[in-house]
Amino acid sequence: MTDRQAPKSGALQVENLRKTYGSETAPAVADLSLRVDPGDFVAFLGPSGCGKTTTLRMIAGLLEPTSGRIQVNDNDITHVPVHKRQMGMVFQSYALFPHMTVAQNVGFGLEMRNVDKSERNRRIQTALDMVELGHLGKRKVQALSGGQQQRIALARALVVEPTLLLLDEPLSNLDAKLRDTMRTEIKRIQEELKITTLFVTHDQDEALYMADRIAIMYNGVVEQFGTPYQVYERPESEFVASFVGRANLLEVEVTSSASTVNGESTYEYSSPLLGKGTSVGPSELKPGTTKLLMRPHRLTIGPDESLNDSPDVHSVRGLVKLRGYTGDMLMLELEVGGETLTAEVPTTETWLPQVGDAVNVTWRPEQTYLIPRSEVSSV
Ligand SMILES: Nc1ncnc2c1ncn2[C@@H]1O[C@H](COP(=O)(O)OP(=O)(O)OP(=O)(O)O)[C@@H](O)[C@H]1O
Ligand SMILES: [Mg+2]
Repeated sequence: MTDRQAPKSGALQVENLRKTYGSETAPAVADLSLRVDPGDFVAFLGPSGCGKTTTLRMIAGLLEPTSGRIQVNDNDITHVPVHKRQMGMVFQSYALFPHMTVAQNVGFGLEMRNVDKSERNRRIQTALDMVELGHLGKRKVQALSGGQQQRIALARALVVEPTLLLLDEPLSNLDAKLRDTMRTEIKRIQEELKITTLFVTHDQDEALYMADRIAIMYNGVVEQFGTPYQVYERPESEFVASFVGRANLLEVEVTSSASTVNGESTYEYSSPLLGKGTSVGPSELKPGTTKLLMRPHRLTIGPDESLNDSPDVHSVRGLVKLRGYTGDMLMLELEVGGETLTAEVPTTETWLPQVGDAVNVTWRPEQTYLIPRSEVSSV
């Protein structure tokens, strides 16, 4: 890093990447294809065991793919050894060298690359200043807090001026408050350096907050690759809808073809639970059975007086079965026609229901979404 100059960031293209471990029959990663623009911050989000670390290790060069291709800036690097890839990686466990000082840890990659001592020291100091630990160079890493070790691991990855920064759940060992601080730090450094970054997490809030684009992984495949808005508001499968944020998914029968309302494809549906209604959906959805996504915090809960059903607002009656107070929000489980609906009500509302109350649940049709049927996966 020459002062705070941005390193040359890489464009990454992954084609049909596949990894089957040893004698396993099911691949850990199956035919993964992905294109990442220079300077983009991409989060890999998915449940435990879905193949996130395996993908990252193949991109880093720490694991040989079974098949497929990895390109950085149009160069095929699939079989290029790890030390020639010019990538910086932060492992979940940080993997710092315990017997070395902070400065020795950060400078390790430069020493391996035979960078001379004065240049090395200058770059170590710049990297440490960047993570705001410039004063701790002489400290042994064992004498650091978890959050400080995490920053050192980040400085060690940044110091080699990587074309790609790979972060594998770097915040998972930190407490909630420190995690929030480090999220902001990493986002700030990434935006400052404009370095192409892949960030593995199983925390959906973290992915939504930090990333330009999110790859939602499930069972070794990418279910959806899109902006935070796209994966949250326009999920292409039930799995994506329920993994990214809280979700009510109710079966409905789509009864019309698309009409365009305010630039959105809108459909009519009917269901025994919700009656007739309209909802936004994907641009090509044929009549038939599918799932309607209703986010719990988009439901408005009022006392059960007259039902207020109109083209602008839909409503249904429910009964409060469970009530949980979380400070900002009241979490409710409602019984609606024999099924359970989850709702979240801000505690700033003037009327807050109690268990046993009959309530009126209302929502706006443009705030629900019909899941594309062809993509519906079994969860
Ligand atoms: N060295 C290995 N040998 C055999 N199977 C492995 C090996 N490493 C991982 N796996 C398997 O490959 C699958 C994907 O593992 P991977 O570590 O990529 O998941 P992950 O998404 O990173 O999960 P986590 O969120 O728990 O870290 C899992 O089923 C795992 O058990
Ligand atoms: Mg992992």
